[in-house]
Amino acid sequence: MNILVVGGGGREHTLVWKLVNDSRRPKVFCAPGNAGTAEIATNVNIGAEDIPGLVQWAREYRPDLVVVGPEAPLCEGLVDLLEKEGIKAFGPSKAAAQIEGSKVFAKDVMVAAGVPTARASLFTDADQALDFVRSIGAPLVIKAEGLAAGKGVTVCTTVAEAERAVRESLVDGVFGAAGRRILVEEFLEGEEASIMALTDGKRVVILASAQDHKRAYDNDEGPNTGGMGTYSPAPVVTPDRYPAIERDVFGPTLAELERRGIRYQGVLYAGLMMTSKGAKVLEFNCRFGDPETQVILPRLAGDLVPALEACIDGTLRPELVTWREEACVCVVMAAGGYPGTYRKGDEIRGLKQAAVVKDAVVFHAGTALRDGRVVTSGGRVLGVTALGAGLREAVDRAYEAVSCIAFNDAMYRTDIAAKAFRRR
Ligand code: AMP
Ligand code: GLY
Repeated sequence: MNILVVGGGGREHTLVWKLVNDSRRPKVFCAPGNAGTAEIATNVNIGAEDIPGLVQWAREYRPDLVVVGPEAPLCEGLVDLLEKEGIKAFGPSKAAAQIEGSKVFAKDVMVAAGVPTARASLFTDADQALDFVRSIGAPLVIKAEGLAAGKGVTVCTTVAEAERAVRESLVDGVFGAAGRRILVEEFLEGEEASIMALTDGKRVVILASAQDHKRAYDNDEGPNTGGMGTYSPAPVVTPDRYPAIERDVFGPTLAELERRGIRYQGVLYAGLMMTSKGAKVLEFNCRFGDPETQVILPRLAGDLVPALEACIDGTLRPELVTWREEACVCVVMAAGGYPGTYRKGDEIRGLKQAAVVKDAVVFHAGTALRDGRVVTSGGRVLGVTALGAGLREAVDRAYEAVSCIAFNDAMYRTDIAAKAFRRR
């Protein structure tokens, strides 16, 4: 069996790592991949956003399965194009991927479906948006409609901040077309959790919970990032919450999409705020979370391929997904300066030493090979991950592995999963 994984970050290295260990022992390709995927699979030098290039490659090599990691190619309709070629592809269609591609579409679906979410108003005119912002006051959240590389959301604690965010999007056009429409959203208080579900469009299998750490520095301070670390399970999502999340979030969302003639197949990611009034949806993503995937796939007991294929074939069953008891923690090592400007091309040392820490695995994100050496090539460089009997053991092992690794200006949070212990 041949599988192509599209993408080149930590999520994709994790997918490749899980897939090569499946019992069918597939041969895995990764486009474009990174230095980590190059070790266990075959990298293909095609960018994740080069849709014609990917389709051409698939036409030529006829993989048995394509797994699309990032949102951009999904929103561009890569899965639709592959299906036209008769190639099985895991991930939602272009129409279904709008749930992430357009926050306006997502909010509209949620409201129509009665899914619990923050109240929001839509604006295209800056003056009207500014009047509204001043009338309701802070705190509030300003969201650019489209994909903005994770920078389109501003949580505003003052009206002045909100005014700035409105102007950036609607007047200065810093997000381009993605920011021509904005949502002004009610601020929700609580602890966040990520819940992903596999779905074939009808049935839903909820995956293990995870919690991300979006801020750059310890104690949730500093700028928002793509994610500085994760842990699974997230104790804030107590097992008794799952039925309500399935009933109130995933069920009605898929039903509403179906009512609109859209069948969602793939993985649907709900970013949830656990409020005093229950779980509310902050956002939907049309893909596996990054770095949530790094802590969820190592906990998956069985094979991944049958579950992915079942989503495509419409034969998803809960028995296809079983879990190990262990907890998992991922500490992201980033390049100093991330999420702002940072250096690239620095050699990474100690990867071999880290890999021998018990139950640890280092997933590469922004890495590349240069003259046979692994060097940094992105903001988030590594996802240093470990399983443990509980979260405490997993944290200790992950940080033990982190301590083995060194590169210029390496930056990481020292408090990943600390929130989970405070809860207890
Ligand atoms: P999003 O890209 O929608 O996930 O937003 C990025 C981050 O902004 C989320 O992870 C939350 O931390 C925060 N956020 C988004 N919407 C809200 C909201 N309505 N209330 C409070 N925080 C929010
Ligand atoms: N970790 C957040 C995301 O994947 O969007």
